[in-house]
Amino acid sequence: MENLPLYTALTEFAAARPLRMHMPGHKGKPLPGYPLTAPYAIDFTELPPTGNLFDGGGAIGEAEALWAEAFHMDSCLFLTGGSTQGVLSALTLACRPGDPILLDRCCHRSAFNGLALLDLHPVFVERPWVEAGGVTGPIFPHVLKTMLKTHPSIKTLCITSPTYYGVLSDIPALAQIMEEHGGVLVVDGAHGAHLPFLGLDHLSAAHLAVVSAHKTLPAPGQSALLLSNGRFSQEQLRWAASLYGSSSPSYPMMAALDLCRAYMLEQGGDAYRQTAEEVAALRRDFPALTPSHAPLDPTRLTLLSPHGFQAQEGLERQNIWPEMADGGHVVLIPTCADSQEDFLRLQQALERVELGPCPHYPPPPPMSPQVCSPRQALFAPAEPLPLDRAAGRIAAQQVAPYPPGIPVIAPGQAIEKKTIAYLEQIGYNTRQVISVAPLCVEGSR
Ligand SMILES: Cc1ncc(COP(=O)(O)O)c(C=O)c1O
Repeated sequence: MENLPLYTALTEFAAARPLRMHMPGHKGKPLPGYPLTAPYAIDFTELPPTGNLFDGGGAIGEAEALWAEAFHMDSCLFLTGGSTQGVLSALTLACRPGDPILLDRCCHRSAFNGLALLDLHPVFVERPWVEAGGVTGPIFPHVLKTMLKTHPSIKTLCITSPTYYGVLSDIPALAQIMEEHGGVLVVDGAHGAHLPFLGLDHLSAAHLAVVSAHKTLPAPGQSALLLSNGRFSQEQLRWAASLYGSSSPSYPMMAALDLCRAYMLEQGGDAYRQTAEEVAALRRDFPALTPSHAPLDPTRLTLLSPHGFQAQEGLERQNIWPEMADGGHVVLIPTCADSQEDFLRLQQALERVELGPCPHYPPPPPMSPQVCSPRQALFAPAEPLPLDRAAGRIAAQQVAPYPPGIPVIAPGQAIEKKTIAYLEQIGYNTRQVISVAPLCVEGSR
């Protein structure tokens, strides 16, 4: 047979029975009772019997309405370009080009790209540092109130909840404050698609919410949802998402979303509750982030380790594959697709790696001064420089160690020595080349 480098790599890896503690949430297993059979047979284009995602209505519209109901939201749109497409769409709806915006410091790089694409001017919302867990805590409502007093013209708040580490913010409280301010709350809930099926109505107060079905639910890569609680119509969701999505969205992917919802309502909720119990037991037995540190997604397993990267490698040597690690943590994504045998295998592997408190894991430094707008910087004629020689210059790109993909340096910001020192401290390769904008960007403010 012809050389098949990627196909061979993937099938061989899958055949080695890795324990997938990473996304996608299906873990390589078909949905029990709801298999997506013959994806080629249902891979269509826009025809009268199949409908058109961006025209609305039809069978796709019915399937989306059922998802909206499951999330206690008014409308839902299927996304086949991940939460990335959803975050860009939500910002497009919530803001006008040139607007200021309150942006959670922990937003994903897609939100930072949205700033540049839409010419938004960010004021960053910092989060408290949870020393004992080495993570950022939730966004406090009183902090939002103070920021809105200082910046009364800002009408959009965009936050991430849950974070990669599983930390939840109080969405209803933040939504109410934005509501009273006449503004909009956008929640990037990429990691929280499973929460409603655990009975946690985490997102429904948000004016716009985005979830990646593929991260925590048994759904294929890139499948995601954009949800509105009534402030924005389904037609508006379709308009915004069509700006960023393919005009040939995948029907097997949308069909998989339909199956996934039915499975979650029938069996997946129970399976997920079982997973939450397994995770609670592992959190008791091993050093991990717990609800005593911060409000947490009950199924995200963030292990604490003084040597996170080594602990990750120790697990990988045992064929257990975490989602990510940093210097102080190893993050695992258990889902409803993980069986009791999988948890037993995980528990045995965890006994053989070094875990323990990470009290000295450093907080990220506050965001550096914004010298010019994200748009000016991202689209400026840039020059490459090794990061460790870039202090004093203006970043024309993000530095967002991935995962979690949260920028430490963002376009338009001054590159400061303390930020480079922080990146070095968390084990980031600062010899890496970064694009820097010219020292004087035209029209910078
Ligand atoms: C918080 C957050 N938002 C958005 C995204 C983008 O999601 P997707 O990969 O579905 O495009 C990610 C991806 O990791 C994320 O962590």
